[in-house]
Amino acid sequence: MQQLQILVLHGPNLNLLGVREPSIYGGLSLDNINAALKTRATELHSFLECQQLNSEGAIVEAIHTALNQKDGILINAGAYTHTSIAIRDALSGVNLPVVEVHLSNIYKRESFRHHSYVAPVAIGQISGFGVDSYRLGLEALVNYLKHQKEPSQ
Ligand code: DQA
Repeated sequence: MQQLQILVLHGPNLNLLGVREPSIYGGLSLDNINAALKTRATELHSFLECQQLNSEGAIVEAIHTALNQKDGILINAGAYTHTSIAIRDALSGVNLPVVEVHLSNIYKRESFRHHSYVAPVAIGQISGFGVDSYRLGLEALVNYLKHQKEPSQ
């Protein structure tokens, strides 16, 4: 069976995980999260490319690069979730299956975090489970891709 190729995109300030507001985002570093995700990906016969990017244009370019290279995208767009039409347009432009994740429950927080520009172009969203949001998001994306690719199973 061919491995699924998945792009994992972490948006702005997520390089500070472990240091940044640990009461909201937990104590794990981004390296810890990526390592745990890669272990799970191997069990799911998938290969992850993980990138953390602080600028909007760099995220747009990374999404473009996924075209014809990746099977799906797992994205935590950080604060750009709530502001970026450009990221949303890039995601709908490449037309790859997308799962949106957030460490915190964005709906329990400030009202400016309640709207996501990514959500309407994603298969679904997982929010509020800390590092488990990423794991659950990866499992959901892989499951979707496997059924999309092998409808008989
Ligand atoms: C976040 C939630 C966003 O509102 C915030 O700007 C982030 C992180 C999360 O993972 O909970 O940077 O996406």
